[in-house]
Amino acid sequence: MVLFSPAVRAAGFLRNKPFLKLRHPLLRSMSTGAFNSKIHAENIQVELTSTPKQKPVFDHSLPFGKVFTDHMLEIEWSKQEGFSTPRIVPYHKLQLDPSVPALHYGVQCFEGMKAYKDAQGKVRLFRPELNMKRFHDSCTRLALPDLDEEGMLQSIAKFVRLEEAWVPDVDGCSLYLRPTCIGTTEYLGVAAPSHALIYCIACPVGPYFADGFAPVKVLAETTYKRAFKGGTGDSKVGGNYAPGLLPQQLSSKKGYSQVLWLGEDDAVTEVGAMNLFVFWTTPQGKKQLITAPLDGTILPGVTRNSILELARKWGEFDVSESVYTMQEVQAAVKEGRVIEVFGAGTAAVVAPVNGIGYMDQNLEIPCGPDGKAGALTRRLFDTLSDIHYGRSHEANWSMIV
Ligand SMILES: Cc1ncc(COP(=O)(O)O)c(C=O)c1O
Repeated sequence: MVLFSPAVRAAGFLRNKPFLKLRHPLLRSMSTGAFNSKIHAENIQVELTSTPKQKPVFDHSLPFGKVFTDHMLEIEWSKQEGFSTPRIVPYHKLQLDPSVPALHYGVQCFEGMKAYKDAQGKVRLFRPELNMKRFHDSCTRLALPDLDEEGMLQSIAKFVRLEEAWVPDVDGCSLYLRPTCIGTTEYLGVAAPSHALIYCIACPVGPYFADGFAPVKVLAETTYKRAFKGGTGDSKVGGNYAPGLLPQQLSSKKGYSQVLWLGEDDAVTEVGAMNLFVFWTTPQGKKQLITAPLDGTILPGVTRNSILELARKWGEFDVSESVYTMQEVQAAVKEGRVIEVFGAGTAAVVAPVNGIGYMDQNLEIPCGPDGKAGALTRRLFDTLSDIHYGRSHEANWSMIV
């Protein structure tokens, strides 16, 4: 880790002119002119803020994505030189040329992951290697840099260590991390970017459900699609989210809180920004937990993967990644075979669903005896939360930073 000398910091351009900072030769990668395919976290440079922010109260009222930590991580990439030396610098606004492809053609992708503080005060990342793999794959899908997953993870770990005081030590709260990669070539042509900026910002967040589970009604969307085969549904790219905003608005006008995205022949795919699971009894009488398969239209969620692994290890019911349709769900509801339905993702862990709007009908979904969450939803939430906060070692899924 390299700390900038006071003389370099006093130069002033660091804090106030991030664009110049990105260009200043003193601060460019320790490039020898050779192409740098690795992100050298061991050489990370650190410039500490001279104006630390007042931290919010860490409790369940912490909002999502509004309060950011003192610093951010930055790594530049160019086709000629590869990755620059990573830097941790004071949180600042980006200054971009208005022509960059991130602002015109959606040449950007991102990740969403959390750091948790355990009872001993250690900071844990949950299966971060899966986020790095997905970040790599999203970059590849958009012709962004061939991401060095290990170097990226080590850089993030150093960033989180530096921001340790911002990781809430309250059960249910965490530090949300948003690694992002944007194309920054100053060129209006539609072309693979020759320059990119990777950065990571962080915000302390409260739990998705501040006062215990609150089940949601979702609307199965038959007009608009989130993803299609050959598209980018399996990548975490901004271009997947903007087109979902209008259907989300329309569904909320009808009284639903999330959109249930359908695929071909009304196959059930995902809900809002979560993977979807249905726990039901099949027509053959088997108890089964089912979720859509990773056929290119589904985001390979870290939570999804973890739920599948846990449920398969428990071995108490059938676990299936296969195509199932709204017509099948409709029939199962009618025949009383649906036990629980829930969304799964980093933000909520699991989010119980108590109703699905489909073709002008409202399908009522059971939600346990108290109407808030079924037994499997609760068990998965508790098991995953215990792993997040280091209370359980049922799975070796934590990276301590
Ligand atoms: C479309 C979509 N599906 C699923 C997920 C859940 O993924 P994860 O469990 O990795 O948070 C997310 C959240 O990032 C998402 O945006």
